Amino acid sequence: MRTQVGIIGAGPAGLLLSHLLHLRGIDSVVLERRGRDQIESTIRAGVLEQGTMDTLAEAGVGERMKAEGALHHGFELAFEGKRRRIDLTALTGKSITVYAQHEVLKDLVAARVAADGKLFFDVSNTSIHGIDTASPSIRFEHADEQHELHCDYVIGCDGFHGVSRSAIPAALRQDYERVFPFGWFGILVEAPPTSDELIYARHERGFALISTRSQDVQRMYFQCDPNDAVENWSDDRIWAELHARVDSDEGHQVVEGKIFQKNIVPMRSFVSTTMQHGHLFLAGDAAHIVPPTGAKGLNLAVADVRVLTAALVAFYKESRTDLLDAYSETALRRIWRAEHFSYWMTRMMHRLDDASPFEQRLQVAELEHVTTSRAAATAMAENYVGVVAV
Ligand code: APR
Ligand code: PHB
Repeated sequence: MRTQVGIIGAGPAGLLLSHLLHLRGIDSVVLERRGRDQIESTIRAGVLEQGTMDTLAEAGVGERMKAEGALHHGFELAFEGKRRRIDLTALTGKSITVYAQHEVLKDLVAARVAADGKLFFDVSNTSIHGIDTASPSIRFEHADEQHELHCDYVIGCDGFHGVSRSAIPAALRQDYERVFPFGWFGILVEAPPTSDELIYARHERGFALISTRSQDVQRMYFQCDPNDAVENWSDDRIWAELHARVDSDEGHQVVEGKIFQKNIVPMRSFVSTTMQHGHLFLAGDAAHIVPPTGAKGLNLAVADVRVLTAALVAFYKESRTDLLDAYSETALRRIWRAEHFSYWMTRMMHRLDDASPFEQRLQVAELEHVTTSRAAATAMAENYVGVVAV
C-alpha cells in the first residue's frame, strides 16, 4: 500500500488533517485503533474557538456545528457567593461555540467517507519504520492481515497514549510535565440549562463547571480525587456538591435533572519537544496535553493541523521544506501560550491541597482583579477565545 501522507489516529487531529490535505489534492490514509462507533461516542470537551470554527467551516464540515452548536459571547466566574461575567465579545470582538467534540468527529468521519477517503478502523500493532529516510512506512494489522503502508511522511495523531511520540529517539526529546493531584468528575444530565453561559466556579470545597450540550442536555464537572470511583458518588451526593460549590448568594441555583453518564478525568499538563524528527511529525494530544480548565485541547489539535497542512502543501505544491522544518517551533509558540493559560486558570480556580490560607486568599484576590480590571479581563478573554498572534 502506498500514499503520500500516512496518518496514525482518527481523532480530531488525524481526521481534519486528512480532509484538509484531500481538499488540496494530497493523498493520505488514516489508521485508527478503535472502532467508528467508539470514536463517535466518546464524550469529551466541547468549546470551539473562532479559529477552530473557521477551520472546520473552510474544510466544509461546519454546517451542523453552525446549526446545532451554541454561540457564546461570554462566560461567568463564580466565587465568594458572587457571579461575575467575562464579556468575551466586548473585550475581544470574538466568541466561542459550544459543540461537543464527538459531534465534530461525526462530521469529519462523514466528510472523509463521502470523499471516499481511506480510513481503517480497528487496526492493531501499529509500528513506524524508516523515519530517517525519504520513504518511511507504517506496519499494522487489520482484519487478521498484516499490512505495510509506504508514504512520504508519517503523522502521529494518536493521542497521549499512542505509539508515535516514542518513535522520536529519547535522546532528542525533552518532556515537560505536571500531573495535578486532582481530577474532574463529569456528568451528563437531562435538564434545561442552568444559565445561558458557562459558569466556572471557585469554592473552598473545590472547582466546579457548568457547561451545556443542548437545551435538553447539560454537562457539569466538579473537582475530585482522580483515584475516586464513580460508584462512590450517588446522584444526591453529586447535587449536594454542585449546589455547595456553584449556587450564589444572589439566588442563582444549579438546575438538577436525570444524570445519565458519570466519569472521572485526570488532569495533566504535558509538552513533548521536539514535535518532529526526520519524516515523522506529531500533532495534537500525541505531543501535548492541557488540563481542561481553559478548554484548549481540541483547539490546539486543530491549530497544529493548520500549521502542518500549510507546511505539507508548501512541500507538495512548491517543493519547499522550510515550513516543514519550522513546524515544531511554529506550533510550540501557541502550545506554550495555551499551556500557560490552562495552568494559570487551573491554579486560580481549584482547591490546591498545598495552598496555605494566604495563597487561598490570593486566588480570590486574582478573581477580583480579572472581574474588575478591564485590562486583566481582556488578557483572560484573549486567551480564552484563542490568541491569534502566536
Ligand atoms: N494506532 C492507531 N490509532 C491509535 C493508536 C495506535 N497505536 N493509539 C491511539 N490511537 C487513536 C486513538 O484511538 C484515538 O482515536 O488515536 C486517536 C487520538 O485521538 P485523540 O486522543 O482525540 O487526539 P487528537 O486527535 O490529538 O485530539 C485532541 O482530544 O483528548 C482530546 O481534549 C483533547 O480535545 C483534545 C483532542
Ligand atoms: C465541556 O463542555 O465539556 C467543557 C467546557 C469548558 C471547559 C471544559 C469542558 O473548560
